[in-house]
Amino acid sequence: MKLILLGAPGAGKGTQAEFICDKLSIPSISTGNILREAVKNGTEAGKAAKSYMDAGALVPDEVVIAILKDRIAADDCKNGFILDGFPRTVPQAEALDQMGVSIDAAIEIDVPDAVIETRLGGRRVCEKCGASYHIVNKAPAVEGICDKCGGKLIVRKDDQPETIKDRLRVYHEQTAPLADYYRKAGKLHTVDGTQEIGAITAQILKILEA
Ligand code: AP5
Ligand code: MG
Repeated sequence: MKLILLGAPGAGKGTQAEFICDKLSIPSISTGNILREAVKNGTEAGKAAKSYMDAGALVPDEVVIAILKDRIAADDCKNGFILDGFPRTVPQAEALDQMGVSIDAAIEIDVPDAVIETRLGGRRVCEKCGASYHIVNKAPAVEGICDKCGGKLIVRKDDQPETIKDRLRVYHEQTAPLADYYRKAGKLHTVDGTQEIGAITAQILKILEA
């Protein structure tokens, strides 16, 4: 199964990817998490990406495409994968097609901008494994500690109110057109992302079974 999760910043791509990859036993690939790790480790890609990420802008296509190409060549991707945060532009979607990757479905998690701000304001992420929590909607068992790996939960640098506005603007300009791209390919399914987390997961799994 090769699946793309589309949606605005804070729509719940990472949250859903986590549940679905457990169910389907395929890896979930978040270009955002890979880039944050690269920034932390000071790699070449990390150095190229940092200023864009901090400003809420997209990292240049060539940097992200190279990272993705490398990642999906790994052994654990043989039976498929979930892409969370890639593609983000039409050229990235075209690059994926050119790599010969045939997508089974693109699921758009639809959440209005007004809801996004409370979601991202309350988000906490694990600095070790990248898992995503919310202080109200998805609280960890122990405050400040990741349920999965015991890592420390922190606020993402780009989750400041001003940066959230920029990320939403970039999303509407550059990423939202991908819904049309996958609609034309007959691959698009849209789910209401304002439902409770478990209800959205159930709906996505049902789409994939059909
Ligand atoms: P990335 O890390 O991908 O960020 P994003 O797309 O802005 O998405 P988020 O991670 O903010 O949201 P999400 O949809 O995963 O939501 P989550 O599940 O955490 O990218 C970061 C940056 O990296 C980009 O800005 C760019 O610079 C760069 N980048 C990455 N990929 C790139 C690419 N392909 N090209 C170029 N640049 C790239 O949920 C949000 C919160 O809401 C959480 O607290 C969660 O617990 C809560 N929540 C989730 N679902 C629900 C629900 N149903 N009800 C209530 N609360 C919920
Ligand atoms: Mg995410």
